[in-house]
Amino acid sequence: MTNEALGEGRSGTKGRAGWTREQASRIERTDDTVAPIVYPPQTEQIPEVHIWDTWFLRNRDGTLATVDGYRVCFSLTAPSDLLPGKRHDVATIRCFYSDDGRNWHNAGPVFEEPLGQRQWAGSALYDDDGSVYLFYTAAGEEGAEDLTYTQRIVGAGGGSIDTADGFALSGPWTHHELLQPDGDRYEREDQSRRMIYTFRDPWFFEDPETGETWLLFEANTPVPEGSDVCGGDDALQEFNGSVGIARSPTGDPLAWELEDPLLDAVGVNQELERPHVVYRDGLYYLFISSHLHTFAPGLEGFDALYGFVAEDLRGDYVPLNESGLVATNPENAPFQSYSWMAFPHSDEVLVQSFFNYYDFDGETLDEIAHLSESEQMRRFGGSLGPALRLEVEGSRTRIIGSLGHWHIPLAGETLPLTDRELIRRGKHND
Ligand code: FRU
Repeated sequence: MTNEALGEGRSGTKGRAGWTREQASRIERTDDTVAPIVYPPQTEQIPEVHIWDTWFLRNRDGTLATVDGYRVCFSLTAPSDLLPGKRHDVATIRCFYSDDGRNWHNAGPVFEEPLGQRQWAGSALYDDDGSVYLFYTAAGEEGAEDLTYTQRIVGAGGGSIDTADGFALSGPWTHHELLQPDGDRYEREDQSRRMIYTFRDPWFFEDPETGETWLLFEANTPVPEGSDVCGGDDALQEFNGSVGIARSPTGDPLAWELEDPLLDAVGVNQELERPHVVYRDGLYYLFISSHLHTFAPGLEGFDALYGFVAEDLRGDYVPLNESGLVATNPENAPFQSYSWMAFPHSDEVLVQSFFNYYDFDGETLDEIAHLSESEQMRRFGGSLGPALRLEVEGSRTRIIGSLGHWHIPLAGETLPLTDRELIRRGKHND
């Protein structure tokens, strides 16, 4: 597909794409982009912890790894008796495994002595020699007395999986600080003009076309005061989310060099969370999660998965479905899922996310935080939600169904017919 067929991005130049206000102003719920309502599961699989951001152990080529028949995932977790709003302050990475892609078991916290006061999202690589690497965000400085919000990108090497007697992931792990914002391409905490600053969520990607090795992450573009971007409008410039990227010249998972961001959203959105790429039919699909409350004034978005497509990794990304909106929650359950992560499965793209706040009655997230503690607990899912099934073609996507809570199909697993397919077959049988 040519750039012309995909439409033009903001810059028209290679190497730096942008999500524009004009594109984002087209965001609206449609039948193709609204997920089905999620009901709580009958029984909770992992009752002792709440889980939210989740990522799968993947091979270098981006496919989900199967290790001696096991699927493996990592999640941010917190004790399930803790108030959900407090979970980010104590987040711990735990490992889960499954031999049927439906029933998951808790392998416990991954690290004994990670960097940071707490750990935020990342990704995991099952390398060709069987070694396991984890990339994560060290939030806060270890040793500091108070909770701090500094974010650094860390890589942990030394992991291996032993399945001789069940499933065990063990170290000894070594933790390496990989990246910090440079203040030039990537905003540092002390440059941030808003409360929010981001430098997190590392995601490993090997480009199948060039063989180059990349680490994507969530960041912000520095916009000095008095700059003329967004017509010099200060209120808009503070919304400066970007998708950052670093390259490993040798392919070493623990040695990275910062490069210019892949895409930014200055004047559009403050947080482009958990960026990741799905390569399909010769195109690069770049996905991010974002929140209703992080859109700049004058724009209306949702808690949703947004996506862009380009002909190469550093291409001129154009928003999927014209606005960027790929999957959002129903209007009457606007926060039921968050932190979406797309991955290919046969000819579909599946999208997993966590089951967030449900049973809404028109409240905002802020209002939820002021409900009684028992109400906040009751309305929080804190588990892996049903994966969405996405049909993807060129710059169009369509939600065609969903799977059960915690169902992550094994490699080669045939998925049930979608409702649409069942209806079509029924018609043929008449
Ligand atoms: C998304 C997110 C991530 C971050 C984590 C912290 O849900 O904001 O960007 O790593 O949550 O809990």
